[in-house]
Amino acid sequence: GKVGVLFGGRSAESEVSNMSGSGVLAALKAKGIDAHAFDPGQRSLAELAGEKFDRVFIALHGRYGEDGSIQGALELLGIPYTGSGVMASSVGMDKITTKILWLAQGLPTPKYAVLNAQSDLGKVVADLGLPLIVKPPHEGSTIGITKVTETAGLQAAYDAAAALDDAVLAEEFVTGREFTVAVLGAGNGARALPIVEIVAPDGNYDYQNKYFTDDTRYFCPAPLDGAIAAEMQRIAVEAYRAVGCEGWGRVDVLLRASDNRPFLLEVNTSPGMTGHSLVPMAARADGVSYEDLCVEILRTARL
Ligand code: DAL
Ligand code: MG
Repeated sequence: GKVGVLFGGRSAESEVSNMSGSGVLAALKAKGIDAHAFDPGQRSLAELAGEKFDRVFIALHGRYGEDGSIQGALELLGIPYTGSGVMASSVGMDKITTKILWLAQGLPTPKYAVLNAQSDLGKVVADLGLPLIVKPPHEGSTIGITKVTETAGLQAAYDAAAALDDAVLAEEFVTGREFTVAVLGAGNGARALPIVEIVAPDGNYDYQNKYFTDDTRYFCPAPLDGAIAAEMQRIAVEAYRAVGCEGWGRVDVLLRASDNRPFLLEVNTSPGMTGHSLVPMAARADGVSYEDLCVEILRTARL
């Protein structure tokens, strides 16, 4: 039947989504699937309904694409879609709620504070130490994130995040190595793909180094002790299931240098599928091509 690939959208990550979606669209077409592009940032839900898609591949990132809103619209329209449902998408888009859920299940995530305009920034530094990370909790691709190395920098970091979001998250900085774990499936069937290690210039895996430079190095399968790798994959799958994710997703993890303990950063329920992206890299290490990965994800589309 007719497949829609949703990409573009209205979030700060629409440029990334355009790269993900054009890759997915080309892959599905190459596999002989009758796939068509649809940008819900440009066209209405009435037009989406009018397309009569049998199912859609969501290659949107961020707000209105990864946060449960388009998922809810598709539920109402009766169109099966890839990835997580409404609730897991909403939770995954909110780094604060995600942490609360993980902590409730005893899963490790860096210490944090939720900031507002009245917060005592000196106390935040006393509680979390320096450096610390300031993030808008509903963004992706490192947009609006600052590493704060001295107390004097915290206000500007807060302002940068608050300009993009109605809440601001401050997180303890975990010194160590950076990894990501792609997860496919749902519930008891959820399984981790090989771990990817990310080595960015000066540890700065920002928007440029994610998508545009070739300065970031990736290692997959990550060179890790077997027991540590197994533990990282285990907690990534638990973290994914704790949020109720389905279909596919990607859990970002830091490994603390001082004691080799993993800390969960966030789950991405509609991960990047660009030429630089990590889920395709993990699939490749598992012997699955980009095209076959797209077909496999599409197969999980449901209501
Ligand atoms: N938010 C980007 C697209 C990612 O996690 O891959
Ligand atoms: Mg993210």
